[in-house]
Amino acid sequence: MTLGSEAFISKIPVLKPRLPNLESISSYIERIDLSGSYSNNGPLVRELESRYAGILGVEPQKVIAVSNATLGITLAVQNQTPNLWRVPDFTFGATALAVLNAGKQLMLEDVDEKTWDLQLPSQFTEENVGHLVVMPFGNNSSFSKWKTISNVVFDAAASIGDPSWDLGKLTHTHTVVFSLHATKVFGAGEGGLIVCGNPLNADLIRCSINFGFNSARHISTLGTNAKMSEYSAAIALASLDQKNIEISEWETSQQLARNLASQVGHRNPNLEASPVNPYFLLRFKDENSLINFENSSTQVNIETRRWWPLAIHEMPFFSEQPRLSITHKLDKKSVSVALSSTILGLPMSRDLSNEFFRRITPLFERFESTFHIFEEVG
Ligand SMILES: Cc1ncc(COP(=O)(O)O)c(C=O)c1O
Repeated sequence: MTLGSEAFISKIPVLKPRLPNLESISSYIERIDLSGSYSNNGPLVRELESRYAGILGVEPQKVIAVSNATLGITLAVQNQTPNLWRVPDFTFGATALAVLNAGKQLMLEDVDEKTWDLQLPSQFTEENVGHLVVMPFGNNSSFSKWKTISNVVFDAAASIGDPSWDLGKLTHTHTVVFSLHATKVFGAGEGGLIVCGNPLNADLIRCSINFGFNSARHISTLGTNAKMSEYSAAIALASLDQKNIEISEWETSQQLARNLASQVGHRNPNLEASPVNPYFLLRFKDENSLINFENSSTQVNIETRRWWPLAIHEMPFFSEQPRLSITHKLDKKSVSVALSSTILGLPMSRDLSNEFFRRITPLFERFESTFHIFEEVG
């Protein structure tokens, strides 16, 4: 492939969301028309919560549908007692913003080299600290290690597709938040789900998403508007109707991607996560290798994206906030800084084309020696 020919080949996008079409949502829209209920905990939202409760193995009362995961994480953090929250320095910006918007204090910490997520608190960590654990790129393999730790909110934004979820025994002080954004599995355009270990906490959050109204419509807690509308619920329900087809499409695309990575012996936590996730990530030895691969992908018209291109503490907005307490185990050698500059997202979709593999395979062969060597979790 030469530079000159790139204009003649179509671009392969890094993301290609596909949500339920008109035909599959129409029966739900008819139900909205008939019920005349458009928002405020309407019948479709309640049905969605109850269907997800069945899938996740919890009582419906513990599942709250919300307008997006960012507000879901914000309210989960706001409604737990700790004031200070440990947040991974390697994450999507919304995670850190959620703590600030909840009016709490942010304590950025480095992540684990092998799992890319927050480490368990050390013996010196104060008792009353919250842990905002991000499950990076659909990987929830570290979920169980938090079982005995109090006050954990899991940002599981991209992890709803994992068929192994069983939240029936979720610890009382734990909350899990999923995103139903268009780019995620079982997308609804915008949307999110909060699952609480404690039903009383769920009641509080349910009140917070509706301005904090009590039964007399007085503000009784610091609330906002984070309600999911009936229209979003319609799309989310139609997505669930096609759940099995969607799962098998992600599995097929991910299997092809993983076969390619394994041909060059490349491993990383994303490639080992549940295959029902919308990412295909590569990690390079260093940033220059990543840039070379990025440029070569552009030449063959394959779009790539640096997922989480800066560690949170490197973003001027966060580093310049005097009110933030940022722990600085975060020097230049921090894992978060290294990950942000060496992880590249390749196209991933429910129908990854043969054409994509035809174009990308030679790049894998050419850049094989520049991929990061994954060490066994031990
Ligand atoms: C780790 C993480 N947290 C939070 C979010 C925000 O989710 P939403 O778009 O539903 O607010 C995302 C979105 O991609 C994410 O990747």
